[in-house]
Amino acid sequence: MKRQILVTSALPYANGPIHLGHLVEYIQTDIFARFQRLRGHDVAYLCADDTHGAAIMIRAQKEGRSPEALVADMAVQHQRDFAAFGMSFDHYGSTNSPANLAACTGIWQRLRERGMVVERSVERLYDPVQKTFLADRFVVGTCPRCGAADQYGDSCEACGATYPATELKNPRSAHSGAAPELRPSTQLFVRLEPLQGFLTQWTQTSGALQPEVANYLAGHFLDKPLQDWDVSRPAPYFGFEIPDAKGQYWYVWFDAPVGYIAATMEWCERTGRSLDAWWRDPRCEIVHFLGKDITYFHTLFWPALLHVGGYQLPRRVQIHGFLRVNGEKMSKSKGTFVTAARYLQFLDPEWLRYYYASKLSGKIDDLDFQVDEFVGKVNSDLVGRVVNLASRSARFVETTGLSARYPDDGGLFERAAAASEAIAAAYEACDFREAMRLVMTLADAANEYVEKKAPWTIKKDPARAAELQDVCTVVLNLFRQIAVYLQPVLPGLAAKAGALLGSPCDAWAAVATPLVGVRVAKFEHMMARVEAEKAQAMFTPEPSAPAATPTPSTAQAPTPAPATPAGGDTALAKEPLAGAITIDDFQKVDLRIAEVLAAEAVPEAKKLLRLTLSLGGGVTRNVFAGIKGAYEPDKLVGRLVVMVANLAPRKMKFGMSEGMVIAAGTDGEVYLLSPDSGAKPGQRLH
Ligand code: 2FM
Ligand code: ZN
Repeated sequence: MKRQILVTSALPYANGPIHLGHLVEYIQTDIFARFQRLRGHDVAYLCADDTHGAAIMIRAQKEGRSPEALVADMAVQHQRDFAAFGMSFDHYGSTNSPANLAACTGIWQRLRERGMVVERSVERLYDPVQKTFLADRFVVGTCPRCGAADQYGDSCEACGATYPATELKNPRSAHSGAAPELRPSTQLFVRLEPLQGFLTQWTQTSGALQPEVANYLAGHFLDKPLQDWDVSRPAPYFGFEIPDAKGQYWYVWFDAPVGYIAATMEWCERTGRSLDAWWRDPRCEIVHFLGKDITYFHTLFWPALLHVGGYQLPRRVQIHGFLRVNGEKMSKSKGTFVTAARYLQFLDPEWLRYYYASKLSGKIDDLDFQVDEFVGKVNSDLVGRVVNLASRSARFVETTGLSARYPDDGGLFERAAAASEAIAAAYEACDFREAMRLVMTLADAANEYVEKKAPWTIKKDPARAAELQDVCTVVLNLFRQIAVYLQPVLPGLAAKAGALLGSPCDAWAAVATPLVGVRVAKFEHMMARVEAEKAQAMFTPEPSAPAATPTPSTAQAPTPAPATPAGGDTALAKEPLAGAITIDDFQKVDLRIAEVLAAEAVPEAKKLLRLTLSLGGGVTRNVFAGIKGAYEPDKLVGRLVVMVANLAPRKMKFGMSEGMVIAAGTDGEVYLLSPDSGAKPGQRLH
């Protein structure tokens, strides 16, 4: 039966980059979503940036720009990182959207109608100079627990303690530096106690929660009356002003989860679907993935809001632990706080997808990244056990294709097909570790077969050509089954397997029927081995990280211009160095390797050549380059160049220019850049 499944990952805050810790969650959610699609179900995988709150407002202020500009920038960065790791979102939204305001307003009205919003006066810190109440994040002072100076009013970065801002020692306003005063402030609370019975029943009996989560809630929250939830914050605050309470804003945790609904609304709008079919129809299974630190919000507040709002409750809340590195908490100063962008400078994203999959059991335990284990698993499992099957057989059938009939393989194919339900059950339970274990068992059996048959030996005897074709037909079919089973984890590898055999690995059912009589494409390299040094290099502190000591070769220039300007006729003298930029500024420029597919002079333009550039995978760009005086068009065809791939397209007299080719020099003296051999079209320059 075709199921309808709505899948979400927790919405990442827009005040920081995506890092390896986030990816534990996004990768597992994506594996689950891809698995369900592979099984033929109707899946919506939705996510958005979580944009509101004081932290974002403060950061924007420090950077001298509006919070809107900051979140727009972060949205681009987040989505770029997610795309690189293969996240198959059906829609990626933002909590700062009209859809989210509408969804929040709807739920709020229902809360009001049910008398669940109460007003109460609480003592809050007030800035007597600025004449505003202070959000916790706008109060700085000494940590009441460990005595560290310059900590925020909600938590201490030195010792990790959380506390009310009123407990901070020597508090000061971050706006004016004045000592804040305590003043009564009227705030809005959502009463949860009326829903205590409902929440107890749902958390304890619906089966949506892992048993340890249900027990934790029963023992820590549901054993006493649920406290009212403080959902408003006074201005200044970056968020939505509460429609019926001027000057008050919804606390970020009110509108953040509603962002799941808002993202669905936008997706439905864009694709002509009905929101109700996904959020108000019990046939739709809503599955949330999230980390253990935000359990409380998703298992008490969020179900309360959904219930009152008339929405469907989650069928499943899948909670995971934190990422540790070599047994320790991730740490910026130790260099173990690795951003997604940093990882991509050194390593293939599919390696991380597999490594995490091989460790995720569907339980709440933390996951430990160990470099040796990462290198070992990728090299021995993926390269040694999986890709090797294809590399040791495909080239022997490049000219003949697969046998017309599936040969006797001693039951190997049947056995691998019969493992389908056990593997599917493991995926369904998010026990990806077990799924990977089962698949690797199949790979072992296939490798034993290859070893025993030794196609490289059969190849030497022309009289055994038919036998060679049969053996390779078996091996490639076993390889294909494995590629299908691994597709949710390794979509890139599965696509390559599909291209090799001319038949996509995009349906689970493909494991049941052998491929015969088809052509086999020329074998292309499928996956490299990890070099341990590169995996290790990722953990050396980044030059831009605050705790890092910059090394001369990679340090950012601390001053805008060189101390001793170059003189005379040098290139530097003619064009002095530009002012310093941050690594973030640099990363906005997406430089790519591109292959020149075609080049021709533009007759009406003195300097221009029209270039057709390939970024690989069938993606091409039309670019006009001012290099006519320096290059013959014919000589350029087939060479690799470097292009700015994210330059906004520009309409020119002769057509659209969709990027820019990088060259040194000017006018007649122009030198295009070439990468060292081995670089591929589409690769990004870092
Ligand atoms: O903890 C976090 O990173 C939050 N930004 C997660 C929000 S999840 C959902 F509620 F929006
Ligand atoms: Zn402290």
